[in-house]
Amino acid sequence: MAETDVDLVILGGGSGGYACALRAAELGMSVVLIDKDKLGGTCLHRGCIPTKALLHAGEVADLARESEQFGVRASLEGIDAPAVRKYQEGVVSRLYKGLAGLVKGRGIQFVEGEGRLASPTSVQVGDTTFTGKHVVLATGSLPRTLPGLEVDGSRVLFSDHALQLDRVPASVVVLGGGVIGVEFASIWRSFGAEVTVVEALPHLVPLEDEASSKLLERAFRRRGIKQELGARFGGVEHTDGGVRVSLESGKTIDAELLLVAVGRGPVSADLGYEEAGVTLDRGFVKVDEYCQTPVPTISAVGDLIASPQLAHVGFGEGILVAERLAGLSVVPIDYAGVPRVTYSDPEVASVGLTEAQAAEKHGADAIKTLTYDLAGNGKSQILKTAGAVKLVALQDGPVVGVHMVGSRVGELLAEAQLIYNWEALPAEVAQLIHAHPTQSEAVGEAHLALAGKPLHAHG
Ligand code: NAI
Repeated sequence: MAETDVDLVILGGGSGGYACALRAAELGMSVVLIDKDKLGGTCLHRGCIPTKALLHAGEVADLARESEQFGVRASLEGIDAPAVRKYQEGVVSRLYKGLAGLVKGRGIQFVEGEGRLASPTSVQVGDTTFTGKHVVLATGSLPRTLPGLEVDGSRVLFSDHALQLDRVPASVVVLGGGVIGVEFASIWRSFGAEVTVVEALPHLVPLEDEASSKLLERAFRRRGIKQELGARFGGVEHTDGGVRVSLESGKTIDAELLLVAVGRGPVSADLGYEEAGVTLDRGFVKVDEYCQTPVPTISAVGDLIASPQLAHVGFGEGILVAERLAGLSVVPIDYAGVPRVTYSDPEVASVGLTEAQAAEKHGADAIKTLTYDLAGNGKSQILKTAGAVKLVALQDGPVVGVHMVGSRVGELLAEAQLIYNWEALPAEVAQLIHAHPTQSEAVGEAHLALAGKPLHAHG
């Protein structure tokens, strides 16, 4: 049995694992990075990147379809699904090559194989044991289904299957109105499918500020995306044309496909974690605010722990662990300060607390809100997008939440994130001149209004 000794052994080469590897190597540590699949994980191969390529193709289709609104005569002949897939795979493959080059360039040993935690300091892959002074667990997450709901990959799909489709379905039921459900609903509608989203809670993207959910629901209605809100899934049966989905209310919806997007669960079973002393909570590895498990040599990052399941959270946690293990001083992550974007059309972007969370934390009387309608923003009118920027602030205090809906608002989040994380006062932001005409002006105008000196805002 071969043995390899290094400073750090990382199990899982997705966003959390590879970010940790890159930073650790930068800090002079010797690193082994193990993954049973291709380096890059869910985000690069089955998540963020390919879905955003599809969303962009959808935007191109919508622009062609709606070109006359801008005085341009073009027509949409159709969607060439294999060509869209080629484009999507081209983007992924270029990024993959770049990432593989980075990992190699920093002297990280990448091992392709199925690993298992063999002790608090070692991971076994086949006949080889990789021993480290420290081990980082970063095995990520997988889509979850509901009891009794079988996902067959042909009529009932997870997002992984949806990314492999070589056709545009005529009709789809999307089960779950969270981030994945809403993004796929947007993609398929742009490609011309009939789409119905079924969400058990009263709103789409239910973790967002209710005002954002309502704006998204309105925009989706305008796009012809049907919504069954507050509707629980009953069952699904196969029909000649695809599936018949029934809701607990007794209503049925026929479609070619059913996408199951009811959340993702951690990959932690049968990997030797508990045997090595790691504790699990509903499958998530339990860690402190420094991503440290109760076993001194084992840390865990990414979707495997109960923090927001976002690639950039994985990057942040991976870097934090690498720096902590290298002896640098690190500060815990303020998860409320992590930006969140749903890349549908329109986009939903937020950072900080929702109005309800702020009222609960600080008391309803201690907060104030302001909503700036994108109708007053020149660039948004040029793009013909509707939406708003909503601010939540403490009375005579800093901004504690920014919530935005509209095309491209995800790109405005960088400023919103600085405002939240630097605890900016509305008057301080109002002082900053924003470029005209940009959508970022909407952020500036919202702060002008909240500071009591509105410019292009109606009372
Ligand atoms: P999610 O937890 O965001 O949404 C699942 C939705 O399904 C919830 O709204 C839930 O109420 C609903 N649901 C659950 N059971 C149901 C039932 N029986 N009937 C009807 N509705 C039901 O999970 P999702 O969308 O699968 O995404 C998984 C993770 O991946 C999330 O944490 C998400 O943030 C992350 N992700 C992030 C993206 C981004 O940042 N743009 C893109 C895609 C995924």
